[in-house]
Amino acid sequence: MTDLKDTYRRNFIKFLLASPLLKFGGLAFAQEGGKFDPDIEFLLSVKKLLIEKPEEALDVFDLEAVARNTLPPAHYGYIATGVSDELSQIANRDAYKKIRLKARRLMAMKDIDTSVEIFGRKWASPVVIAPTGSHQAFHPDGELAVARAAKEKDQLMILSTAASTPIEEVVEARGEPVWSQLYAGADWDETLKIIKRAENTDAPVIVMTVDLVGGGFRETVERFKRLDYRDCSTCHGEGGRNGLKPMYEGLDLEAYRGGDQVFDWDLVKRVRDATDMKLVIKGISHEEDAKLCLRNGVDGIMVSNHGGRAQVSARGTIEVLPEVIKAVKGRIPVLVDGGIRRGEDVFKALALGATAIDIGRPYLWGLGSFGQAGVERVLELLDTELRIVMTQMGTASIDQINEKSLDIKS
Ligand code: FNR
Ligand code: LAC
Repeated sequence: MTDLKDTYRRNFIKFLLASPLLKFGGLAFAQEGGKFDPDIEFLLSVKKLLIEKPEEALDVFDLEAVARNTLPPAHYGYIATGVSDELSQIANRDAYKKIRLKARRLMAMKDIDTSVEIFGRKWASPVVIAPTGSHQAFHPDGELAVARAAKEKDQLMILSTAASTPIEEVVEARGEPVWSQLYAGADWDETLKIIKRAENTDAPVIVMTVDLVGGGFRETVERFKRLDYRDCSTCHGEGGRNGLKPMYEGLDLEAYRGGDQVFDWDLVKRVRDATDMKLVIKGISHEEDAKLCLRNGVDGIMVSNHGGRAQVSARGTIEVLPEVIKAVKGRIPVLVDGGIRRGEDVFKALALGATAIDIGRPYLWGLGSFGQAGVERVLELLDTELRIVMTQMGTASIDQINEKSLDIKS
């Protein structure tokens, strides 16, 4: 049993681990002096709490702590950030805490099957790798490390338009086509080039993200940048290795960014008609839009608020999910993401009707801390936790998981 004192201590330690003192001058200064100030000595003992190998991670947050201490502050800040007061990101997590689980006993549980089928392909797990940009900012192997981990665990990977590795190389590392995420640009011809490039890799699905609109203030990353004393222009400046993202190669970027394309349902139809790939819309957070997806021939929905990085004051995505499920009536698959950190979160989303779920930050923590092995550890932890909760709830396979296991506090 953890008591309140433990909780406070853990929170305090988490706070200290986030402290720049541990990363920068404080630590070096203390060591050089030979004799440690008692406060610094305490900080050093806290630092030792960081795990050294992925298999030591007890949960995904152990990997987050390592990533926070390993990555350049600006890069860690890019993972961590949401918008404004982080209310949308906080809502994603908090909403899971309002859902309790009702267990059945003596259900003769033996073999647990976590496999799911999406668009005719069976996956070992309902946990999907969400599209996130710039993996090479978190580990030199970047998207290749993530693809190899996904291959190892037979899990679905969605590749971002803003990936730092060409899609063709990622597909090779994955050993089969990946789903390709699309940021439609402000010019149709340029957007079409991205769609066709994905199509040429035999991507079965294009995931069109529609929630990153209107800009927004990503304050957290700006604050972390102020802790970063490196010369960012080496990589981010002109000719730096983090120049043009591979997916934008060959595009007229001025047109892609500055054209007059309006973002509306006609654009969705245009994408729909431009390709035979399945079309999934990512970023739905309203039942009316779910109905419009059906009317516009969309093949799948991702309920998402971009991990709280787009819209301000969003509802937690798990709170949005039920109205979308109701609107969709089982006609197309519905995935959900945002704040999923535990196997029981996965279980809750599935119980509310999701076909599968996807994770963003957790696998980036794994990547940033230990590369491919870190990503694999994240997938393994979620899998183990999911199996435990499925056993506890008396549900031996994903299709047996339903709302009867839930008690939702309003
Ligand atoms: C994202 N996300 C995102 N989504 C997308 O459609 N294209 C993208 O390029 C990115 N890039 C990106 C970068 C980083 C660093 C993060 C954290 C997120 C959103 C992502 O796909 C997903 O919706 C959220 O990450 C899910 O929330 P959690 O799991 O991070 O809480
Ligand atoms: C982000 C973009 C890449 O969330 O989608 O940072």
